[in-house]
Amino acid sequence: MILVTGGAGFIGANFVLDWLRECDEPVLNLDKLTYAGNLENLVALKGDARHVFVQGDIGDGVLVADLLAQHRPRAIVNFAAESHVDRSIHGPGEFIQTNIVGTFNLLEGVRAYFGKLSDLEKAAFRFLHVSTDEVYGSLGEVEPPFAETHQYQPNSPYSASKAASDHLVRAYHHTYGIPVLTTNCSNNYGPYHFPEKLIPLIIHNALAGKPLPIYGDGSNVRDWLYVGDHCAAIRRALASGMPGETYNIGGWNEMTNLDVVHTVCDLLDALSPRSSGSYREQITYVKDRPGHDRRYAIDATKIERELGWRPAETFTSGIEKTVRWYLEHADWVGNVTSGAYRQWTETNYADRK
Ligand code: NAD
Ligand code: TYD
Repeated sequence: MILVTGGAGFIGANFVLDWLRECDEPVLNLDKLTYAGNLENLVALKGDARHVFVQGDIGDGVLVADLLAQHRPRAIVNFAAESHVDRSIHGPGEFIQTNIVGTFNLLEGVRAYFGKLSDLEKAAFRFLHVSTDEVYGSLGEVEPPFAETHQYQPNSPYSASKAASDHLVRAYHHTYGIPVLTTNCSNNYGPYHFPEKLIPLIIHNALAGKPLPIYGDGSNVRDWLYVGDHCAAIRRALASGMPGETYNIGGWNEMTNLDVVHTVCDLLDALSPRSSGSYREQITYVKDRPGHDRRYAIDATKIERELGWRPAETFTSGIEKTVRWYLEHADWVGNVTSGAYRQWTETNYADRK
């Protein structure tokens, strides 16, 4: 079996669902169920004996040791993290705690477990750490995209905490011989994406008749990848990646935020039109994010050359699937946008006017 951490969040839940669609190898899912974790994402697995869910913290050494001893996973995929840049600006403490201290504690549990495996089991074992392109910092307009050799230059508390965790993972390979893999991926989008992030926030606000907030002038650039493609890349890296290596994962799809928002508005105009006019009329320019990274772009040549992975979706196909999913899952959106979500949007957008 494999241990997945953070498997009730956006990418983790997509990964678990895809994994169990693709094969029968059981998944032990360890998730703290923070505001971003949601068991509703996994409702399709209810009663499925291949999925065992445990609510808990990757930083809880006793729990992690017990789970490893009891379930003896042959691999671990570590998604668990605090993941939202704006939240890291308002309160970096949780990011340090989970992304750095939590990953460290998890690695300590893995080190003890790994030490007791047989040589055969050691050779087969993998610890795959899911990271982000944001660790590389910000690119100028004409600079080449991030390759794996690009210097780490994180600019937000989020990216700095992820960079720190990447370094710890690397050190546990070099020092203790743990067979680790690190993947650094660009911005994901797709089903179960929490509506604090740009694309689901725009869909949610558009349908609710609310303003569509664009930070700054909307010309910041991100590379967007459909979440199912990210999950496929992780499966590929887990199966065939070389221990100790890092792999950049991206969609070959750089877009300005304004272009992304226009695309979403146009799709909504076609699929769920307003009574009059376009959703584009709801676009509002708001105060920029402090330290807002200008551009991220991924050079995903290595994973294609060495592991044969390329994204299957284009942005056109992926974003249409995504918008349709949100239109068909109004209940899911309603549930995750009640209570604490409102407090967060008030905190984040109140001082941007
Ligand atoms: P998310 O915020 O949607 O989900 C994170 C999950 O981790 C939640 O289920 C949460 O409950 C759980 N979690 C948080 N702290 C925990 C802890 N201490 N112990 C156990 N579980 C904990 O995040 P996501 O967007 O699904 O991102 C998953 C991973 O992928 C993160 O490591 C993130 O840095 C990385 N990543 C995300 C993107 C993106 O575009 N979303 C891109 C590249 C990399
Ligand atoms: P986000 O989805 O938070 O991902 P990240 O900051 O990790 O790239 O934001 C994507 C881009 O959209 C980023 O440049 C910030 C911008 N953005 C807005 O313009 N308005 C918003 O309300 C949000 C949440 C993000």
